[in-house]
Formats: sequence, structure tokens, C-alpha cells
Amino acid sequence: MERTFVMIKPDGVRRGLIGKIVTRFEEKGFKIAEARLMTIDEQLASVHYAHLQSKPFFGELVEYITSGPVFAMILEGHEAVRNARTLIGFTNPIEATAGTIRGDYALIVDYNVIHGSDSVENAEIEIERFFG
Ligand code: TYD
Repeated sequence: MERTFVMIKPDGVRRGLIGKIVTRFEEKGFKIAEARLMTIDEQLASVHYAHLQSKPFFGELVEYITSGPVFAMILEGHEAVRNARTLIGFTNPIEATAGTIRGDYALIVDYNVIHGSDSVENAEIEIERFFG
């Protein structure tokens, strides 16, 4: 069964949204294979967002993702990567449809509540990175 990596970001945890967000994945049909609350340090943040290192918002992104605990999960299901991305919604909450997690719970791209792997290959890399 395909696996994906999903993580509720610090703003989602701070706002008490873990339960609501996990429920959405469970109701959709995903199986939670593993989950844990953890804090991301600067080194892990820099590796996880290495593809954005040259962006002007990189410093703030690292500051934000390290600002408090995240809730990391391995989800299993049919086409888990693409199904989770659909449920999560577009990166920018302004473009994310109502009914998606970002569409319903976020206003601004800087604090978009949740991360989900964008390919099967990256999912396996991120699962190893956070749970390996
Ligand atoms: P990215 O990997 O492009 O998107 P996604 O999380 O949907 O796979 O970007 C990673 C995170 O970087 C994104 O979730 C929020 C943050 N970000 C900003 O803060 N500002 C921006 O302009 C962009 C594009 C992303």
C-alpha cells in the first residue's frame, strides 16, 4: 500500500487542530501507520526545505517551522500521495478550495497549517527523514 508523509505545522498544533485534521484523513479512508509530536531543529528544517533555500522567505520559513511542535504522520492508502495532496489543497490558501484543509483552516501561505509529500519518491525520503 502506498505511503505518504504528512505533518501538521506549528500553527496547526498551536491552534488545537490536530484532532480535526486527523479526523479528515481517517474519514477519507487513510490508515495512520505512525504518528508523533516532535520539534524540528534548524538543521532538519534546512534539509526539509532545501529546495527553497534561495527564496527570500526561507529564513522566516525555517523560523516558523521550528517555532513549536509539529504533528508528523505516515499515512497509508490507495494513491496516498496524490489523495493526501488533494485533501490538503493548494499551497496558497487563497487558491485552496473550501473543503480542503488549507482552504478551510488557513489564510496565508506563510502559515498554511499542513505539509504533505509531493511525490512517491519524496514521500519515502521524508518518511526516512522524520521516522527513520
Ligand atoms: P512548497 O514546497 O513550494 O509547497 P508545498 O508545501 O505545497 O509542497 O513550499 C513549502 C512551504 O513554503 C509552503 O507550504 C509554505 C512556504 N512558502 C511560503 O512561505 N511562501 C511562498 O511564497 C511559498 C511558495 C511557500
